[in-house]
Amino acid sequence: MPQTPITDVDSRRAFLHSALAVAGVTLCATSVASILASCEPDETMPTLPKGEVVRFPIGSITELQTVGGIAATVIPGINFNRDVFIARIAASSFVVFSTVCTHQGCPLPLPANADGATRIVCPCHAAEYQASSGKITRQPIGDTATDLPTFAASFEADTQTLVVSV
Ligand code: FES
Repeated sequence: MPQTPITDVDSRRAFLHSALAVAGVTLCATSVASILASCEPDETMPTLPKGEVVRFPIGSITELQTVGGIAATVIPGINFNRDVFIARIAASSFVVFSTVCTHQGCPLPLPANADGATRIVCPCHAAEYQASSGKITRQPIGDTATDLPTFAASFEADTQTLVVSV
């Protein structure tokens, strides 16, 4: 079989083919890098380093003045500055936990009747959490979720201050 001579046209084609392949790899790498960068934590939402504590006065939060009360509020530096639930479970004992449903991330409302209500119900798929602990008590429709993340908290009665750690 006769050999076809290599021409300038063939050389240019080979060069263009190689150049386009390199450009394609570069574009893919750039796209992957930008996608990965978009997954990094949002630096505008500060949270504290592990082990840090926040002192949070609760003396002016009416809902927390009686045992069984629950409030939703931001504690700066905790939970990426999103609301947390604070539940008063005894005279000097509080539980602090996330307000973000562990199923698909819907924001959770306060219990419908906060005074004495015991359940937090997710409006998205009906998962249900215990209002005094954040523990899951009913799974979402057709799926599963876990307990709400909690933050360690102690109470200083003399200053009506919660000491919350990350
Ligand atoms: S997001 Fe809460 S039950 Fe689905």
